[in-house]
Amino acid sequence: MRDFAGKVAVVTGAGGGLGRALAEALAARGMSLVLADLRPGPLAETAALLAERGAEVLAQPTDVSRREPVEALAAAAYRRFGAVHLLCNNAGVSLGGGLETMTEGDWRWALGVNLWGVIHGLAAFLPRMIAGGPGGHVVNSGSMAGLIASAGLGVYTATKYAVVGLSETLARDLRPYGIGVSVLCPMGVQTGIVATSAALRPADSERRTPPEGQPELVGRWLPPAQVARLVVRGIEEERLYIVTHREGLALIERRFARLQEAFLLLPEPEAAP
Ligand SMILES: NC(=O)c1ccc[n+]([C@@H]2O[C@H](COP(=O)([O-])OP(=O)(O)OC[C@H]3O[C@@H](n4cnc5c(N)ncnc54)[C@H](O)[C@@H]3O)[C@@H](O)[C@H]2O)c1
Repeated sequence: MRDFAGKVAVVTGAGGGLGRALAEALAARGMSLVLADLRPGPLAETAALLAERGAEVLAQPTDVSRREPVEALAAAAYRRFGAVHLLCNNAGVSLGGGLETMTEGDWRWALGVNLWGVIHGLAAFLPRMIAGGPGGHVVNSGSMAGLIASAGLGVYTATKYAVVGLSETLARDLRPYGIGVSVLCPMGVQTGIVATSAALRPADSERRTPPEGQPELVGRWLPPAQVARLVVRGIEEERLYIVTHREGLALIERRFARLQEAFLLLPEPEAAP
């Protein structure tokens, strides 16, 4: 998608970090914004910030882990603007701790927001975007944790691998409609994700002490605005993978070297009888 001005973008998780920065970057390119977040207060702050700068904004408190509110968001977006050109399924939560310590509540919560949030976004908006097409773009917020496994991040990793796999397939499925797909795969971004997620983690999700030491996936902590600029460029250039941290390449190479080794170590095929 090359032209942004006058078009409509949806950003979930717009009450904080990356979602807010992305909404700011898209508004600066002349887009109208449909903003959603579970937390009404921070959502209203983002909406006010953009409205002050002259953007057309619809802000609707939404729990992306549930189908009905996301359907209601899509209905409201089309009522107000008549079209959506860019869908950013960005809302997400993080949690750390060994898989052996994770509860069913942890799994349901993280999968609910990070994976079902994306699924609900696609289910609610895609049929309308296709009908209003051709063209458009979807950005799903994955993570480097969707490309590389890291000790102590198992639940988060499972949700993000799913988002990456889903996005890779979606890019193929949506090609006939001219709708581009990107999956954003950052390492550290300077947002409040740890504190916000800790506050949102449900009560039935037992709070356990995270493992000692740094997770492997730590590189630089980039400002959200810098990542948002990379997302805008990734949309313009129709990039499937939007990566943000050069230091991640060594980790990717190590993973692929291990996979390659597994193939190279296969025994010779037995001769046919
Ligand atoms: N910050 C990082 O280092 C980092 C790295 C890689 C990927 N990501 C991903 O980027 C995305 C944005 O994260 P962020 O760092 O800006 O975090 P953040 O916590 O600053 O923002 C996420 C927003 O999502 C909202 N949210 C949480 N649950 C929700 C729900 N059920 N429905 C609707 N909104 C909900 C929160 O209220 C919050 O405003 C996430 O998908 C995250 O996994 C972040």
